[in-house]
Amino acid sequence: MELLYETPRYEDEEVVLTGYGLADVDDHLAGEDEETARRFGWWPKRSTAETVVAAFGVWAQDWATAGSTRTFAVRDRRTEALLGGCELRRHADKPCTVSYWTAVQQRRKGVATRALRLLLAYATDEGIVDIACDVAVDNVASRRVTEAGGFSRRPTPYTDPDGQAMVRYTLHGAQLPTT
Ligand SMILES: CC(C)(COP(=O)(O)OP(=O)(O)OC[C@H]1O[C@@H](n2cnc3c(N)ncnc32)[C@H](O)[C@@H]1OP(=O)(O)O)[C@@H](O)C(=O)NCCC(=O)NCCS
Repeated sequence: MELLYETPRYEDEEVVLTGYGLADVDDHLAGEDEETARRFGWWPKRSTAETVVAAFGVWAQDWATAGSTRTFAVRDRRTEALLGGCELRRHADKPCTVSYWTAVQQRRKGVATRALRLLLAYATDEGIVDIACDVAVDNVASRRVTEAGGFSRRPTPYTDPDGQAMVRYTLHGAQLPTT
């Protein structure tokens, strides 16, 4: 498949991280449910082919220009079918953050857990030592993913600007995986 951008390749026995291509637009859209739209804050809006193409363009641009995001497609290693995605985001004045999503048809198969592990290996290779992940208290699946990734939970929840109860997970230096 022709990709809009190339990434370093990270893989395990089941999944591989790559760039996204225009051939992914339909599958990316089909994998987005209300849960995804709510968790990423654009509900009641939903993605369209136009917004997905625009997002892929931003991600490609960020890879090309050392911008703030490093976004990977998560694929089945054997078939290259799109399973989800994950992202490392750099911030000017605070630790990098991670996020991830799994296509609705592919959930509860360990995809996000595998993807986060590979994303953290990429972060390690980039020399990043402090990583955070903000998760809604009621997002049990995402909390399990961060915990499986070795993150520690800050004891005190906080309320985000939308009134959502959140927990911050953090990961430091020596806890990061190596390749
Ligand atoms: C959160 C999300 C990425 C998890 O993806 P996934 O590929 O299904 O996750 P995994 O299969 O690796 O499951 C991780 C753990 O969560 C559990 N889990 C998955 N879905 C669950 C659910 N709906 N309720 C409770 N537990 C769930 C799994 O059983 C697994 O637990 P285990 O480690 O004890 O076996 C996926 O639900 C999603 O895309 N949600 C919408 C976007 C989102 O919330 N992203 C995170 C923003 S911080």
